[in-house]
Amino acid sequence: MFPVPLKAACQRPTPPAARNRRQGWHHGAMSTGSSATAVVTGASSGIGEATARSLADAGFHVFCVARRTERIQALAAEIGGTAVTCDVTDAAQVDALASAVGDRLNLLVNNAGGAIGLEKVSEADHEAWRHMYDVNVIGTLLVTRALVPALVASGAGTLINISSTAGHDVYEGGGGYTVAKHGVTAMTGTLRLELNGLPVRVTEIAPGMVRTDEFSLNRFGGDKEAADHVYAGVDEPLVAADIADVVTWVATRPHHVNIDTMTVRPIAQASVYKVHRTT
Ligand SMILES: NC(=O)c1ccc[n+]([C@@H]2O[C@H](COP(=O)([O-])OP(=O)(O)OC[C@H]3O[C@@H](n4cnc5c(N)ncnc54)[C@H](OP(=O)(O)O)[C@@H]3O)[C@@H](O)[C@H]2O)c1
Repeated sequence: MFPVPLKAACQRPTPPAARNRRQGWHHGAMSTGSSATAVVTGASSGIGEATARSLADAGFHVFCVARRTERIQALAAEIGGTAVTCDVTDAAQVDALASAVGDRLNLLVNNAGGAIGLEKVSEADHEAWRHMYDVNVIGTLLVTRALVPALVASGAGTLINISSTAGHDVYEGGGGYTVAKHGVTAMTGTLRLELNGLPVRVTEIAPGMVRTDEFSLNRFGGDKEAADHVYAGVDEPLVAADIADVVTWVATRPHHVNIDTMTVRPIAQASVYKVHRTT
């Protein structure tokens, strides 16, 4: 399915001695060839669920993480992974996640997140903003902080943050979400600088319009009509499997290849403001 076998992608090639000295890499820290492991947060629906499936297909043992236990247990049973119930905004639960994962981890996909509301900044519900910041930014921070040591210890770690085109642009009514996703974008760039010299590559994937079952429904408080309106007349919005495919592609490049940032939109969407609609 992928041009580079998983084994090659997850096992960092032996670096030349000079590079090894310069970057402080050690053979002893390399992955030993046992099954590569991945953590996917927000695996109970949408992009996270599709990503867990795709990574399992590519040979990863996937830790499926979310708050809804039944969903992730069913998924983990189906793909031969491990379900870990965890609210990513709760530091104690994230510590328990890190214990469940163990000392080594090849791939972390910080995907848990979402949007609430579409109010102007001048009319915003600050608790909704706080919630968006909490799950998108603090959640990503807590999971990253807890699992970076295991990514480093694997000798061939990959960290992928799912941000959004809302992390690069702004739009009316999007204030709380764009602020949070700009935070994810900034955190990802900062991490790449701070982890330089360690065997962990850092990628931001910024999806545009992805039609998932729950994202817009959650944004509009369960109002299905409002949620459906987002995608009205759009010829083929992205689906979760499209982003999962990109995540798996990034994760299965040879380990010296760092894809910094990928913006992925449906062909009908040229920017956050220009979406071709047939109705
Ligand atoms: N759909 C889009 O158009 C789009 C576009 C750009 C970026 N994104 C981003 O892509 C990611 C996934 O979106 P999606 O469309 O797949 O949405 P989704 O179906 O609503 O998925 C969100 C996931 O996050 C989990 N989650 C939420 N709060 C959590 C918490 N406190 N702790 C742990 N898990 C939590 C949810 O699981 P539980 O409720 O079970 O905890 C769910 O599995 C999000 O970060 C979103 O912002 C989406």
